Amino acid sequence: MSAASTTEDRVPVIETRALGKVYSAGSEAEVVALHGVDMRIHRGDFVAIMGPSGSGKSTLMNLIGCLDTPTSGSYYCDGVDVSTLDAEELAILRRDKIGFVFQGFNLLPRMSALENVAMPLGYAQVPPHERSERARQALAAVGLAERGGHRPTELSGGQQQRVAIARALINEPPIILADEPTGALDSRTGEEILALFKRLRDEGHTVVLITHDAEVAAHADRTLVMRDGELHEQEAGA
Ligand SMILES: Nc1ncnc2c1ncn2[C@@H]1O[C@H](COP(=O)(O)OP(=O)(O)OP(=O)(O)O)[C@@H](O)[C@H]1O
Ligand SMILES: [Mg+2]
Repeated sequence: MSAASTTEDRVPVIETRALGKVYSAGSEAEVVALHGVDMRIHRGDFVAIMGPSGSGKSTLMNLIGCLDTPTSGSYYCDGVDVSTLDAEELAILRRDKIGFVFQGFNLLPRMSALENVAMPLGYAQVPPHERSERARQALAAVGLAERGGHRPTELSGGQQQRVAIARALINEPPIILADEPTGALDSRTGEEILALFKRLRDEGHTVVLITHDAEVAAHADRTLVMRDGELHEQEAGA
């Protein structure tokens, strides 16, 4: 639909090759959560990942977000094999490239909305007045300019989710990963969040969103389906 038909010659923003994840390998509790996942996502794509509970969606998202390491296979983030990076390089890649909207917000309860949003701006790199100014702008972008001083418990579920999105966007990361970002929201607030993701996609961000809801997935340009740790392209009309 967008001018993204010449994708072949571009380096994918996200590329996994035979990515595998086994939890508690070798023990009785062993779980093969991911099995040979090959995935290619390009800049400016808006991709939905669907699939039943326990099929491995969050596991895949955590690997793409460099929050966890695979047991087999490889992951190239913007052309870089992340297994070659040390802990510090990985932290920098995460900070500069990835905005993560977690399943269940993960806001810090004792901090105001503004402070939560400013969190990813390293204390060392960004002076305090610039931190709050950028956090203010990010909150305004999700329609919460008036709520900067509120703590998470003083906000509605949809507002908390928007704070989490503002936090994920504060560094303007090229990749935005969202795990069930609309799951806890009423349909109207959910639509607003989806409109926000589409705007980000149009601005050239890459958005990967996990959802159980086919109506939510229909907003994406492409839907991938996870089944028992295997990733499939959704058939047309399915
Ligand atoms: N830290 C862990 N240790 C052991 N097993 C885990 C761990 N995290 C997830 N699993 C298992 O791996 C499988 C995939 O879990 P995952 O969280 O990726 O599923 P999901 O598709 O995100 O499900 P949901 O839709 O319920 O969020 C499940 O069987 C789960 O029990
Ligand atoms: Mg999950």
